[in-house]
Amino acid sequence: MDAFQSHSAEFCANSSRTALTITRPDDWHLHVRDGAILKAVLPYTARQFGRAIIMPNLKLPVTTTAQAGTYRHRILAARPVCGPGSAFEPLMTLYLTDNMSPDEVLRARESGFVYGVKLYLTGVTTHSKAGVTDLYHCTAALEAMQKNGLPLLMHGEVTDPSIDIFDREKVFIDRVLEPLRRDFPSLKVVFEHITTLSAAQYVRDADAAPGTLGATITAHHLLLNRNAILVGGIRPHYYCLPVLKREEHRLALVEAATSGHPRFFLGTDSAPHPKNLKEHACGCAGCYTAPYALELYAQAFDQAGALGRLEGFASFHGADFYELPRATDTVTLERVTWVSPEDIDADSTTIVSFKVGELLHWKLH
Ligand code: NCD
Ligand code: ZN
Repeated sequence: MDAFQSHSAEFCANSSRTALTITRPDDWHLHVRDGAILKAVLPYTARQFGRAIIMPNLKLPVTTTAQAGTYRHRILAARPVCGPGSAFEPLMTLYLTDNMSPDEVLRARESGFVYGVKLYLTGVTTHSKAGVTDLYHCTAALEAMQKNGLPLLMHGEVTDPSIDIFDREKVFIDRVLEPLRRDFPSLKVVFEHITTLSAAQYVRDADAAPGTLGATITAHHLLLNRNAILVGGIRPHYYCLPVLKREEHRLALVEAATSGHPRFFLGTDSAPHPKNLKEHACGCAGCYTAPYALELYAQAFDQAGALGRLEGFASFHGADFYELPRATDTVTLERVTWVSPEDIDADSTTIVSFKVGELLHWKLH
């Protein structure tokens, strides 16, 4: 029995609603890549979400506002031409590098299309080689971000190889996040894709001014614990960073996401990779959840008996944090059991869709 199946009985017992209509949600952490993969994956996100924060970790990282502008146009061109998804809005980010200039921060802020700057400590995850060697080198950029209200989005793990991989998020809080928040108390900070009890508690309890601290939570970290990676063999499609954690951490994330606390919001971290690079001797990190991300979140909230809290988490808290208007249209999910969709073909490259068992229990209209 895997981590998901062990909860399905509870899910059935708790359920009564047959449909759920919520304000159209946004995805506050998304990888869409470029080229054929971008064209193949974007429509799935666009059909569900009104907006998404687009991660800048392309092979050639998006480090300038000018690059973010041209990448944005490629994303806009990948939207469906008409009908659902055609109004999807990509919210761009810059990839923080050592010595990013305050002028670049200002250009980003004034562009009207850049909504954050992403911190990857060098080597921490996919395409992070160009990342920051020491945040100390980014002082001028951080000052400019704080002054101009541009959020810092953090991949919250240390890279020190002597720290156990399951502890790297917790250690990040002590070594990086706390000192950063002490030095830049009014910088807007998002602790991305949190995976541990420590991170959930930190975000909930930190003494932070309203709108200065938030955290995204993925659907896969709400649904699975680390056993899923090793059920009967090694399951590369459940490998992502930060890696899935023990059940006690999954429960803490469910508690945080369903708490109604405005610091927690939806961010899928959907991260498509070609199948041959996932099923590899050194497979890439990333779960591709975009094709039915909202259904996965609905499943997680339903299992927790908290469907009524999904709208705040998915549609309000992130928009409020980024000081953007909440959406005015709605989406409707129906309770129906259906088979997870097929894998995606991106110009002859297969992308394997994330699955929790073969059946899903909610379907977007
Ligand atoms: C992401 C990717 O593939 O770009 N991978 C992942 O496992 N989440 C990068 C990231 O967000 O860490
Ligand atoms: Zn990510």
